[in-house]
Amino acid sequence: MNKITQLFNIKYPIIQGGMIWSSGYKLASAVSNAGGLGLIGAGSMYPEVLREHIQKCKRATDKPFGVNIPMLYPNIEEIMNIVVDEGVKIVFTSAGNPKTWTSFLKSKGITVVHVVSSSIFALKAQKAGVDAIVAEGFEAGGHNGREETTTLTLIPMVKEKIQIPIIAAGGIATGRGMLAVMILGADGVQVGSRFAASLESSSHHNFKQKILDLKEGDTQLTLKELAPVRLVKNKFYEDVQDLYRKCPSKEDLAQLLGRARAKKGMFEGDLEEGELEIGQIAGLIHEILPAEKIIHQMITDFEAACQEKTKFEF
Ligand SMILES: Cc1cc2nc3c(=O)[nH]c(=O)nc-3n(C[C@H](O)[C@H](O)[C@H](O)COP(=O)(O)O)c2cc1C
Repeated sequence: MNKITQLFNIKYPIIQGGMIWSSGYKLASAVSNAGGLGLIGAGSMYPEVLREHIQKCKRATDKPFGVNIPMLYPNIEEIMNIVVDEGVKIVFTSAGNPKTWTSFLKSKGITVVHVVSSSIFALKAQKAGVDAIVAEGFEAGGHNGREETTTLTLIPMVKEKIQIPIIAAGGIATGRGMLAVMILGADGVQVGSRFAASLESSSHHNFKQKILDLKEGDTQLTLKELAPVRLVKNKFYEDVQDLYRKCPSKEDLAQLLGRARAKKGMFEGDLEEGELEIGQIAGLIHEILPAEKIIHQMITDFEAACQEKTKFEF
């Protein structure tokens, strides 16, 4: 048992990050059934779609699972009420102020975790009363901090500042990566990109296949003026770079991004015109695997790495 397995009542301190267009109930329940913590990504779901996924997840697993809610969500109040109504026990909030919803969720007996990308926001989240934080480095897929702090530097800096449990995210896809961040002070890990390319991920097959083809340097953090996001360097990304050369306003960027780019790329499989969110660790993902196998490989690798102490003697 460690702080994270105890907090969520799970076997392994591995959390599958909530991911728009990737983490529906199939992925979340598969991860939870395998001993990790699965999260349904509410960010790309209409409220009633989220309710359906929660209900299906409850039928697909008797293990704990949670919901990830980006707080910029337009129907945020409705979403929060559905989560309470459906008896969800664990909520991960992101992209917003942790003060806004933490006390409401805690008053309903829900365990609350907030995602941050700096030690300043980690402190704010601790002050807001969350049970744990996810500290997410610059390598991560999806939206990210403007400061570009890497996981390797972020975790020990956050550890220096806060007392609540820390879940490290960004660039972790192996047991060795997991051990590294735990040595730096994390109590568990949140893994996104590796699970985006899992069998149960709801992403389009084209996107999953694209992840396998990516190499070092094939992603970049961009659109900092809107909400910084790490993207695959495809045609859409190049269109964004072309626009940057014309010194665009925030409105110009928002117009190019439009409304359904992420859906087009990750869910409908348009690899050119769509927005493809993935982390730097994609360069280490070579196979689409079932979630259970991913967790099994991570734990086997973690345990093997723990046995290699003599390697560190000098
Ligand atoms: C396709 C994709 C979609 C994501 N969507 C969300 C989201 O909706 N909410 C959120 O808090 N994080 C989101 N993330 C971030 C993940 O939850 C996780 O923290 C991150 O992927 C960890 O870094 P890694 O990609 O290096 O594993 C997303 C990541 C990816 C790859």
